[in-house]
Amino acid sequence: MRVPFFDLRVLDPDMRKELLEAINKVFDHGKLILGPEVDEFEKRVADFIGMKHAIGVASGSNALFLALKSLGIGPGDEVITTPLTWIITLNAIAECDAVPVCVDICDDFNIDPEKIEPAITKKTKAILPVHFTGHMCKMDRICSIAKKHNLFVIEDAAQAYGAKYKSKMAGSFSDVAAFSMNTMKVLSAYGEAGAVTTDSTELYEKIKMLRYTGTKSDPKKIITNECYYVSLNHKIDTMQAALLLVAMKHLPAKMKRRQEIADKYTQALSGLVKCPQTASGDVHAYYTYAIQADGRDQLQAYLNSKEIETKIYHVPLANKAPVHAKNMRYETPVAQRVLDRFLSIPAHEKITDEQVDFVIKTIQEYYQ
Ligand SMILES: Cc1ncc(COP(=O)(O)O)c(C=O)c1O
Repeated sequence: MRVPFFDLRVLDPDMRKELLEAINKVFDHGKLILGPEVDEFEKRVADFIGMKHAIGVASGSNALFLALKSLGIGPGDEVITTPLTWIITLNAIAECDAVPVCVDICDDFNIDPEKIEPAITKKTKAILPVHFTGHMCKMDRICSIAKKHNLFVIEDAAQAYGAKYKSKMAGSFSDVAAFSMNTMKVLSAYGEAGAVTTDSTELYEKIKMLRYTGTKSDPKKIITNECYYVSLNHKIDTMQAALLLVAMKHLPAKMKRRQEIADKYTQALSGLVKCPQTASGDVHAYYTYAIQADGRDQLQAYLNSKEIETKIYHVPLANKAPVHAKNMRYETPVAQRVLDRFLSIPAHEKITDEQVDFVIKTIQEYYQ
């Protein structure tokens, strides 16, 4: 039985109808850039995260870059982050001419808070935790370190829209947080999209300018060359915002189904492999369901031979990427061990119970 890792087709006729209606509405009003759906999308994101402001942008990468820029992270500043992430986390820091400082992680995939304080120097400006796979970092400890040392917190919540730590939303612990809503994410656009959230009205105004080449341009009023910051075009399409509004309606059902699948996997596989663990009061967004397994490569090959698609996020560790490796200060042995054992198995809402049972049975068979 084939079990795909992703299925990004829109096969449900009701969903397709809703999406096409949303597109038609945009065609009707013709405000293709920063149109009314963008305003509505931003309002909904801000309400959902529990922050005063959200700004829709073209991607999660743009969101992270603008979060850093808005806080004035610049040449020579150091930002402490994790090596277990997509490379964009480090690249966004480096694009600001700042220095990514990677410290080791815990075996829950996320930055080890106890490794942060020893890495702080006079140049450190921010801590940038990544909620990897949709599982939240230990934000209370991270925020208390940031407060003690007067550092900014910037959550890379690209994988964690809807996740919670001690009942508080991902993105609500930051000075500025960044989300991705690209096609693969749990809250997904139909292409690229992202958002930034903040409680600061001053930063909100600045990010809106940074999104529009550093000007106060607004397509509803005036497009101006009165430029206050050097910046590029980071705007979200109205079309993507319109489609995201539809996706938002379906998010609770999608998250519920992912949670059901995760529970099934955890119950059946815990004795064989290390499964994700979520403390009470936390919500895992299950961007992906990742196990840690001895002999991971052989397990992956076996699953592949049974047409079960799996993925490893992301080889090599970001601090070992050729462009960054030479500048790294710390060894990250836990991150390396976790990555060597890491395997994401199919857990998206479109797989059937039969497919979930087949994945479980195949993994059990492998260990027998
Ligand atoms: C941890 C992390 N940060 C940032 C991003 C960037 O998001 P996008 O692909 O929307 O640019 C991603 C995307 O997957 C990600 O996984």
